[in-house]
Amino acid sequence: MSSHGTEGSECIQSPVGGTDVSADIDWKMLRHKATEAATKAYAPYSGFSVGAAALVDDHRMVAGCNVENVSYGLGLCAECSVVSALYSGGGGRLIALSCVTADGEVLMPCGRCRQVLLEHGGPQMLIDHPLGPRRLGELLPDAFGPEDLARHEPEKP
Ligand code: THU
Repeated sequence: MSSHGTEGSECIQSPVGGTDVSADIDWKMLRHKATEAATKAYAPYSGFSVGAAALVDDHRMVAGCNVENVSYGLGLCAECSVVSALYSGGGGRLIALSCVTADGEVLMPCGRCRQVLLEHGGPQMLIDHPLGPRRLGELLPDAFGPEDLARHEPEKP
């Protein structure tokens, strides 16, 4: 697999269900959809519009933008909107995601979004990067995961 899949498409192994599902990742298209989504952003407080688009394991594409709030901390990142679109469109696993600014420049997902994406894509998920896609597990090493919960007995109320 090429580590520089920003042009054309790339063939990857999906982490879904232990089955080898290959997916063609058209990074150019993902960036285009993400840039399109950024035009819909509601970002009156930061003035920083963000768009994100992801490939789902059933070959669907889902996209979203940031949606801010007057109570600043309640704002939603574009990646959260992608996860919302994933479930409102029937669910599935995220294979690859591109996040961009309004002018189409690739943006790395914030820390919180890396954890949110991990839940729905796992460590094998690919994240767009100017120097070639990165695995989410590389961007969020030693992440908190379900196995951490499973290792500890729930506390008695
Ligand atoms: N933002 C995102 O949508 N995704 C990120 O990964 C980084 C930040 C948004 C949140 C806020 O609306 C604006 O960018 C400025 O921080």
